[in-house]
Amino acid sequence: MKKTKWFSSQYATIDLKDRRQRRRLRFFIIGGAVELLVLTLIGFRGVEYMDSPDFCGTVCHRVMEPQFTLYQRSPHARVACVQCHIGPGATWMVKSKINGIPQVFKAMTNTQERPIPTPVENLRPARDTCEQCHWPSKFSGDMVRFFRHFQEDEANTEVTRANVFKVGGGERGMARDIHWHIANDVWYLALDEKRQEIGWVGVEENNGNLKQFVDPSRRPQITPTRIEQEKRLMDCVDCHNRATHIFRSPAQLLDEALAAGAIDRAIPFIKKKGVEALTSSPGDIHGKIANVEALDAFYRTAYPYVYAEKTPQIRSAIMQVKEFARIVEFPDMKVDWKTHINNIGHIESPGCLRCHGKLVAESGPQQGKPISAVCQECHYPLQLPPAATPAAPAPAAPPEVARPVAPAVATSATPSAEIPPAVTKPTAPAATTPAPKPAGPPRIPAGHAPSGCALCHKDGIGGAPKFPSNHSAFNEATCAGCHTRS
Ligand code: HEC
Ligand code: HEC
Ligand code: HEC
Ligand code: HEC
Ligand code: HEC
Ligand code: HEC
Ligand code: HEC
Repeated sequence: MKKTKWFSSQYATIDLKDRRQRRRLRFFIIGGAVELLVLTLIGFRGVEYMDSPDFCGTVCHRVMEPQFTLYQRSPHARVACVQCHIGPGATWMVKSKINGIPQVFKAMTNTQERPIPTPVENLRPARDTCEQCHWPSKFSGDMVRFFRHFQEDEANTEVTRANVFKVGGGERGMARDIHWHIANDVWYLALDEKRQEIGWVGVEENNGNLKQFVDPSRRPQITPTRIEQEKRLMDCVDCHNRATHIFRSPAQLLDEALAAGAIDRAIPFIKKKGVEALTSSPGDIHGKIANVEALDAFYRTAYPYVYAEKTPQIRSAIMQVKEFARIVEFPDMKVDWKTHINNIGHIESPGCLRCHGKLVAESGPQQGKPISAVCQECHYPLQLPPAATPAAPAPAAPPEVARPVAPAVATSATPSAEIPPAVTKPTAPAATTPAPKPAGPPRIPAGHAPSGCALCHKDGIGGAPKFPSNHSAFNEATCAGCHTRS
C-alpha cells in the first residue's frame, strides 16, 4: 500500500522530478492561497467554527463521517476533535492547518483514501493532548469491569465475566501494573505500517540502562539504524487507539443493547437474528435494513404467541437494530469494525500480545524469557459474594435474571446460578498471591497446523488436548501471542 500520511509534513521532502509530487506541490500552493483567502474573509469567528467538531465532522470532512458518528456515541463526545488532534498552542494549530490543506483538497476532489489510514502518523504526542485531561501519574489501582455477552441461542443466555484490571500507574520509579508503560519511557519498533508487528522494545531503566526485548523470529529486520530512525515512544494511543472512534461489531452492538435493556432479551433468538441481519448485505445499508425489517415476518410466523404478546418490544428491537445498520458499516468510506483494529485487549486482535508472550529479554536474569503473558499479570476474575444480593455493583439496570457468577477462569462445568461459589473471602486477590500459578503456555509442537486451531482444540478432535475453558473467547489471531512455536 502507498505510504500515506495524515496531518503530516509530507511536503518536507518533495521530489520535483516526480510528476505526481509536482502536482501535489501545485495543490499545496493553490490550497494554501485558498485557505489564506478563506481565513481572511471569514475572520476569527470563522476560525473558531473551523475548529468545532461540527465543522470537522460534517462540513469539510465529510470523509470523516464514520469517525464523527461514533465519536458522538463515545465517552469523549464533549471533547472537541481539535483537543486530541491538535492540542493547545499556536505552533500545532498552524502546523495542522498547513498539513490539513492537502486533506481538504482530497476531500473536495474525492481523492481521499478510503478508509482514512490509521494509525494517524505524526499525531501529536498524547503527552500534549490526552494528558491535558488525564493525569498519567495518577494511581488508578484495580478497576472492575463487567463483560456481558449473550449467546446466540433461543434464550439469548447471558454470560457475564467480571474481571479486575490491574490498571495501577503512579510516579516514575514507583509505578506498576498496566499504566507502568506510561510512567516509564518504553520505546518500540514496529515492522509494519499498522503497528501490529512489533520487533523490538527498549525500556529506559532508572539507572540509565536500556533493557531490550526482541522478537527472535524477526531478528534480521531489526538493525540498530532502523531502531534509531523508526522507534516510537509508547503513549496512551498505543493501547487506547479506539478511545473515541469505537467501531463496534454486530455482536458487540447487540450485547450492549441487550445488557442495557434497550432490546428485550425475552425475544427468542434476537441476538442471533440481529447479528445475522447486520452482517448480511455487506456494503449495502439498505439491504441490511430490509433484512432487519424482515424480522417482523420471522417472529410473526415462527413465534406467533410471542409476537402476539410482545409486538411493541419486537417493533422496538427492530427499530434499534435498524439504527445499528447505519453505524456498523460505512460503505462510502469503506469502514467497518474490521478495518480499525483495537489494541486494548487480545481477543479480536493481538493487542497486548504484540509484545507480551512474544518478545524475549535480550539480557539480564530473564534473558531469553518472553514478557509475561500470565493472565493474572493483567486481570483476575472478581470473586462476587454469593448470589441473592441485589446490591451487587450492576453497571446498568440490574438484570431480572440472577447474574450467573461464572468468572472466565472457571472449570468447563460452569457452576449454575443455584450453586453459589464457595464462600471464600474475596480479599487477597489472586494477583498478590497467585495461588496455583499456571505453568505458562505450552509450546506449539514443531510442524503443527498453521491455522484452524479451535477446530481441533475446542472439542479435542483428533486427540488434541482441549484448551482450557478460559480460552473460549480467543480469536485464532492471538494463539501464537502466548504459545510460541517450537
Ligand atoms: C479523545 C480524543 C479524540 C477526539 C476528541 C477525536 N479523536 Fe479522532 N482520533 C483519536 C485517536 C487516538 C485516533 C487514532 C490514532 C492512531 O491510531 O494513530 C483518531 C483517529 C482519527 C481519524 C483517522 C481514522 C481512524 O479512525 O483512525 C480521523 C479521520 C479522526 N480521528 C477524526 C476525528 C474527528 C472528525 C473528530 C471530532 C468529531 C475526532 N477525530 C475527535 C482521538 C480523538
Ligand atoms: C478535554 C478533556 C479530555 C481529553 C483531551 C481526553 N479525554 Fe479521555 N476522558 C475525558 C473525560 C471527561 C472522560 C470521562 C467520560 C465519562 O466518564 O463519561 C474520559 C474518559 C476516558 C477513558 C475511559 C473511557 C471509558 O470507557 O470509560 C479513556 C480510556 C480515555 N478517556 C482516554 C483518553 C485518551 C487516550 C485521550 C487522548 C487521545 C483522551 N482520553 C483525551 C476527557 C478527556
Ligand atoms: C499498556 C497499555 C496502556 C497504555 C499505554 C495506557 N493505558 Fe489506560 N488503560 C489500559 C487498560 C488495559 C485499562 C483498563 C480498562 C480497559 O481495559 O479499558 C486502562 C484504563 C484507563 C482509564 C480508565 C481507568 C480509570 O481510572 O477510570 C483511563 C482514563 C486511561 N486508561 C487513560 C489512559 C491515558 C490518558 C494514557 C496515557 C497517559 C493511558 N491510559 C495509557 C491500558 C493502557
Ligand atoms: C510495545 C510492547 C508492549 C505492549 C504493546 C504492551 N506491553 Fe505490557 N509490558 C511491556 C514491557 C517491555 C514490560 C516490562 C517487562 C519486564 O520488565 O519484564 C511490560 C510490563 C507490563 C506489566 C507489568 C508492569 C509492572 O508492574 O512491572 C503489565 C501489567 C502489562 N505490561 C500489561 C499490558 C497490557 C494490559 C497491555 C495491553 C493493553 C500491554 N501491557 C501492552 C511491553 C508492552
Ligand atoms: C498483558 C496483559 C494481559 C494478559 C497477560 C491477559 N490478558 Fe486478558 N485482557 C487484557 C485486556 C487489556 C483486556 C481487554 C479489556 C477491554 O476490552 O477493554 C483483556 C480481555 C480479556 C477477555 C475478554 C473479556 C470478555 O469477556 O470479553 C478475556 C476472556 C480474557 N482477557 C482472558 C484472558 C486469559 C484467560 C488470559 C491468560 C491465559 C489473559 N486474558 C491474559 C489483558 C491481558
Ligand atoms: C488438526 C488438528 C489440530 C489443529 C488444526 C491444531 N492443533 Fe494443536 N494439537 C493437536 C494435537 C493432536 C496435539 C497433541 C499432539 C502433539 O503434540 O502434536 C496438539 C498440541 C498442541 C499444543 C501443545 C499442548 C500441550 O499441552 O503441550 C499447543 C500449544 C497447540 N497444539 C496449539 C495449537 C495452535 C495455536 C493451533 C493453531 C495455530 C493448533 N494447535 C492447531 C491438534 C491440532
Ligand atoms: C493470553 C495467553 C493465551 C492465549 C491468547 C492462548 N493461550 Fe492457550 N494457554 C495459555 C496458558 C497460560 C495455558 C496453560 C495454563 C492453563 O492450562 O490454563 C494454555 C494452554 C493451552 C493448551 C493446553 C491444554 C492442555 O491441557 O494441555 C492448548 C491446546 C492451548 N492453550 C491452545 C490455545 C489455542 C488454540 C489458542 C488460540 C485460539 C490459545 N491457546 C490462546 C495461554 C494462552
